[in-house]
Amino acid sequence: MAKICVSLTGNTLEKNLEILGKYRKFIDVVELRVDFLEPNERLHIRRFPEMAGIPVILTIRRDIDGGKYQGGEASRITLFSMGLSFAEVDKRKNFAYIDIESDLNVPSLEEAARTFGTKIIRSVHNFQDMDFDLAKCIRELRRTGDEIAKVAVMPHSMEDVLRIYQAARETKDVKKILIGMGRFGESTRILADYLGSHLTYSSVSDESGLSLAAPGQLNPKELVELYRFKKINKNTKIFGIVGYPLTASSSPAFHNALFTQETKDAVYIPFPSDSLDSFLRLAEEINLEGASVTVPYKEAIIPHLSNRSERVDYIGACNTIVRSAKGWMGYNTDGLGFSDALLRFTGLKSLRGKRITIIGAGGAARAVAAEIFRLKGRALILNRTVFRAKELAMRYGFSWGGFDHQGMDMMEHFSHIIIQTTSVGMEPNTDADPLEQYDFSGKEMVMDLIYKPAMTRLLCRAQKAGCQVANGTEMLLAQAKYQYNLFMRTALDTEVVTKNVRLEMG
Ligand code: ATR
Repeated sequence: MAKICVSLTGNTLEKNLEILGKYRKFIDVVELRVDFLEPNERLHIRRFPEMAGIPVILTIRRDIDGGKYQGGEASRITLFSMGLSFAEVDKRKNFAYIDIESDLNVPSLEEAARTFGTKIIRSVHNFQDMDFDLAKCIRELRRTGDEIAKVAVMPHSMEDVLRIYQAARETKDVKKILIGMGRFGESTRILADYLGSHLTYSSVSDESGLSLAAPGQLNPKELVELYRFKKINKNTKIFGIVGYPLTASSSPAFHNALFTQETKDAVYIPFPSDSLDSFLRLAEEINLEGASVTVPYKEAIIPHLSNRSERVDYIGACNTIVRSAKGWMGYNTDGLGFSDALLRFTGLKSLRGKRITIIGAGGAARAVAAEIFRLKGRALILNRTVFRAKELAMRYGFSWGGFDHQGMDMMEHFSHIIIQTTSVGMEPNTDADPLEQYDFSGKEMVMDLIYKPAMTRLLCRAQKAGCQVANGTEMLLAQAKYQYNLFMRTALDTEVVTKNVRLEMG
């Protein structure tokens, strides 16, 4: 089982002990980043392992390797020696590991480490490119069999991420720590055990005003509580979400909380992917069981499916893939999620006789229009680019228009329900209102598919005028619930899911 290490980046030993105290229950090892300590604090590092009461890695990272140490090599070696000096018989009082960069050749240091039971981590850091044979690098790094090879690289694409997983498979027999840094590399930190890494590094940058020890590190609490790190093993089913740039998605919180609630041996991970092709090859490499598919791949995924549900065809988009014996099976749960949420909001069973305005004509609007048609509603589609509104409206015999006088006049005849499907008004542009020309009468029921912020400017205006309003949270939860059932091939009770998991998502 891979260990969780937290990199301590406080400027004093006391500060580091404070952080350690807060996170002790989540972690197995700490890394004392001596390069972050104030110069006078560095003179007292020898006492730290005993003070910490947990295995400690001694690291003095140079600036060229992404650290803060700017002094010369001689003073750095002196600090290393100080850390290893006065070794105690009780090994818990000594550093458990020492991180020695691959180009540092000081045999006396290594000899001292070996004599007193301090394990050597032989490290390479590369922030630039991955134009080298990663597996070979891992294999050749160690000088003796008892060392741990550590390679930290910066993937700049999903293709780079794939190479990290391939290198891990090719070096199964080597004791190592393999890390993909940055946003692309996040999955390698969560799947450390899958990669065969001895440990994963985390940090607590979000609190206490500390800096990240390395780009992309997760918080230890997040690793354990959100990503279920300590439950991940060789048999754990891996799920995820693919999209780009894939910022702030609520799906990992939802699915992982459900896995915990339902005691499933599964994990759900974000896979920001600049290339759908590379992602699909990664999916084979790690035997991904299923994934949520989001912007911009909901249409692009369709040619890669071996089979698909009818909904994928009539909506023209796929947001869920599940592995089957023949290949990827594609589904669309956005449509069902939307209609569940809409019917609940309006208290209706069908939309017969209802006249509805849809704002937007993009991917989300396509699912909305298809469902409104299925539920027998009539709709007007308004969009900035009128021909896209026309194209979508013609599929269902709906009306269309733009945000001009004519469009606003038409809206008066389609004002039982208004559904906002664009990203206008979403964080961070919360001042925007896609329908600012329209004055609400107070009778419309208004649903905005945005859920961040919870109340968009449009919804605030509608509510002020006396309208009933709803945001996109219910749709998000409902569609994720359908996804969960597809992933797990189960039929989970809706109410239980949404009530409990909503709490987890905060
Ligand atoms: P999604 O899958 O989230 O619906 P999309 O397919 O890119 O994303 O569609 C985005 C929708 O938001 C479109 O209706 C788009 O209008 P255009 O078709 O005219 O591009 C709409 N949209 C995005 N930004 C907008 C803006 N600033 N003002 C008005 N509409 C906007």
